Amino acid sequence: MNNKIYAQRRKQLMKMMGENAIAILPAAPLLIRNRDVEHGFRQDSDFYYLSGFVEPEAVVVLVPGRKHAQYILFCRERDKVKEIWNGYRYGPEGAVEHFAADDAFPIDDLEEILPGLMEHCDSVYYTIGLNLEFDKQVMNCVNSLRRGSRGGVQAPNEFVSLDYLLHDMRLYKSRDEIKLMRTAAKISVQGHINAMKACQPGKYEYQLEAELLYQFNRNGAGWAYPSIVGGGANSCILHYTENNRVLNDGDMVLIDAGAEYGGYAADITRTFPVNGKYSEAQKEIYDLVLASQDAAIKQVKPGNHWNDPHNAAVKVLTKGMVELGLLKGKPAELIKNGDYSKYYMHRTGHWIGMDVHDVGDYKVDDEWRLLEPGMALTIEPGLYIPHGSRGAKRWWDIGVRIEDDVLVTKDGCDLLTKGLPRTTEEVEAVMAS
Ligand code: GLY
Ligand code: MN
Ligand code: MN
Repeated sequence: MNNKIYAQRRKQLMKMMGENAIAILPAAPLLIRNRDVEHGFRQDSDFYYLSGFVEPEAVVVLVPGRKHAQYILFCRERDKVKEIWNGYRYGPEGAVEHFAADDAFPIDDLEEILPGLMEHCDSVYYTIGLNLEFDKQVMNCVNSLRRGSRGGVQAPNEFVSLDYLLHDMRLYKSRDEIKLMRTAAKISVQGHINAMKACQPGKYEYQLEAELLYQFNRNGAGWAYPSIVGGGANSCILHYTENNRVLNDGDMVLIDAGAEYGGYAADITRTFPVNGKYSEAQKEIYDLVLASQDAAIKQVKPGNHWNDPHNAAVKVLTKGMVELGLLKGKPAELIKNGDYSKYYMHRTGHWIGMDVHDVGDYKVDDEWRLLEPGMALTIEPGLYIPHGSRGAKRWWDIGVRIEDDVLVTKDGCDLLTKGLPRTTEEVEAVMAS
């Protein structure tokens, strides 16, 4: 994305903050994986959304209306030796030149400079509690101002969480963001198709995971979250990620995997037969979940609220479970008392964007949020029938989830994850090809 977009976002945020305010956002921390090996660095989404800056050990500071500089970036200094070992650093000069910072300083000078930027600001927009070490640094700065109060120094009066303003901005996706999300979806679709084609009895779950990761990586993407590849009974474990079991003839495999491209996620689930042909029992459950997904997707349109797709999915699933004999009773009652959740225990979706479970409130003033163009969400109903479920032997160990990503448009919604088989016939045709 070009610098103008980040500048527009900062401008919009600063306008909402008003003057006499300061916003402070640290980059994501570096995390140790084992001994001296770090986890792959992934920039904090809020920080990236406002700066496009990809280095760790950096802090964005925004001071609306400040004369000398409103956007200040603290970052690591250039370092010949460290750059030979670990790669290029922009340094403060590069932060100004390439990232349009009005001013930039070495990160080591933060505690010396930040109090001066905070002085005369009533409100500090900062999300406390996410990074305890950095919280301490911010408090040190506030306390250093408080110590100077007798000399006329003015410390800020209030802390305001940045989430409220920033996450509302992130909820509405711009054209450039949607473009990246479409690419993430396209790469993910190809990964799922390849996994379907590669699937055979006797293969291991991790071998299908490898097909997905290969597609993600060869297209300049990574994973948006650890892939779930669960065969047989593992399909009933919602967040199964061991992916180390053999895939058996006659079982189904559930794959929940999505790429992250340009900082934006896709999130897709398909459930298909290991041997390429759904059994009757598998088809019964699969078709019911598919019908509930269709019903939920139909509810994604402006004016409907966040919970409408979920309600539609629950209605179809519950009625279908009664018809199949999985549940006994009146659907309305089973919904009212929550009995349907024996086999459908999660919600039908979540916002999606830079984070797979993206930011944005689901309720406003205690009411479900109305859907508006530009919002993106997943629709992911499922049914999970663990071994031993009473009266359901033919469906034991069947777990089915079907998940797609949709964008709310002016007249309804647009399927971002198009091109991936959804019906049993389509899946079987791809697997046979
Ligand atoms: N992949 C996580 C989810 O579907 O919410
Ligand atoms: Mn999801
Ligand atoms: Mn998912």
